Amino acid sequence: MSEHDFMPIDGWDHLEIWVGNAKQAAYFYENAYGFARTAYAGPETGVRDRASYVIEQGDIRLVLTSGLRGDSDVCRWSATKGDSVRDVALAVPDATHAYRQAVQRGARGIAEPHWVEDEHGRVELATIGTYGDNVHSFVNRSEYTGPYLPGFVAHTPNGRPAPGVGLISIDHVVGNVELGRMDEWVAFYERVLGFTQLTHFSDEDISTEYSALMSKVMTDGEGKIKFPINEPAEGKRKSQIEEYLEFHGGPGVQHVAMQTEDIVKTVAALREHGVLFITTPDAYYDDVEERVGDIDQDWAALRSMGILADRDEDGYLLQLFTKIVQDRPTLFFEVIERHGSRGFGIGNFKALFEAIEREQALRGNL
Ligand code: FE2
Repeated sequence: MSEHDFMPIDGWDHLEIWVGNAKQAAYFYENAYGFARTAYAGPETGVRDRASYVIEQGDIRLVLTSGLRGDSDVCRWSATKGDSVRDVALAVPDATHAYRQAVQRGARGIAEPHWVEDEHGRVELATIGTYGDNVHSFVNRSEYTGPYLPGFVAHTPNGRPAPGVGLISIDHVVGNVELGRMDEWVAFYERVLGFTQLTHFSDEDISTEYSALMSKVMTDGEGKIKFPINEPAEGKRKSQIEEYLEFHGGPGVQHVAMQTEDIVKTVAALREHGVLFITTPDAYYDDVEERVGDIDQDWAALRSMGILADRDEDGYLLQLFTKIVQDRPTLFFEVIERHGSRGFGIGNFKALFEAIEREQALRGNL
């Protein structure tokens, strides 16, 4: 029996982002990122304390939730952390089994296994805690045909077709944890979810003159779920991970990477919709061909969109990072197109961090 057999996971179910104003956040993710609204729950559907908008693109499902009164958990969250990922929910064949296994192995129980149902069937849910105030829900929707969860109503956006930018699936979700805590969370994912370590980047791999970080990547048995975990490393000045921890009030999700099959088209569409990306220095392209070798794409097209490339022993990948998507220097997104590579673009980290630090300096936090 292999290590992860006690915790079968089918894949990502959804990410729930707790925000200050879900109505406006939904508009942003629909119009800028090309998501389509599929379900809604709020006061009109009998939910008294919050409003949630479910938006989808390809296999990606995001749930944007805001609280309606100051004393709600969601409002307190957005006051202390800003808009930020609360739940990285995993699809499982048996949520009760997943919860019992996880809690028995030391996870903090947040919501006991339970079923919710309506005329479309029933869904089994359970939730455990992870780093910071983040949670992982286990979702078994094998007996459900409704739009999202019981309590939600199907939502058809105002007759306007969803723009869609070619995002097809979640690739990885990265957590930032405090200095010295990375190995603790690596051990947590090993013990509680049966994950294994995929890669390890040391501060020497990922350091600039000013800041550094350490990163380890945890993955499930089949490589469907990938959780890189970062911690700050000593640098001359405040690292971007420390900046995150300060403005987020503790650990949380740093970025969410989403896959596309045509990154030039996807990034062009996102730029057209006003999405801002990290600026890739021109000098980056001086030696990129030499570093990455032959690829199927046209370098001029990649350069015109500022797209980054990297290669490892399995193949290559193309990627680009958005700027931070709220005023606090916390959550951002990555668009990634994989050609064999199972890596995360380590060769780009330095180039990327130098670009991020230029922006950090502009905010006066470097
Ligand atoms: Fe990433």
